[in-house]
Amino acid sequence: MARHRVTFLPMNVTVEVDESVYPLADRGKPGSLLDIALAHDLGLEHNCGGSCACTTCHVVVREGQANLSDMQADEEDRLDMAEGLTIHSRLGCQAVVRGDVVVEIPR
Ligand code: FES
Repeated sequence: MARHRVTFLPMNVTVEVDESVYPLADRGKPGSLLDIALAHDLGLEHNCGGSCACTTCHVVVREGQANLSDMQADEEDRLDMAEGLTIHSRLGCQAVVRGDVVVEIPR
């Protein structure tokens, strides 16, 4: 059993998740930031339903970037279209949590 702490900014809410029970909700990759956010009633937009076809789930990783799954080519391509893109940007529906992370949801 691997438990991880995920903090969402700017609301500054930290949730603890158990990797062995992924998926937690029904959108995005199992154990993704979107999956975790929805399971805890945290607002993270997901216009395409978590299928890497929009950029509304864009988040900026503030801590623990290495604790997220590696970025795949489809995420990289889609992310290029995100407003306010940074080198720490990820798509919430594609980035799977494998350790403690802090992410910010851009306004
Ligand atoms: S919800 Fe559309 S790309 Fe993540």
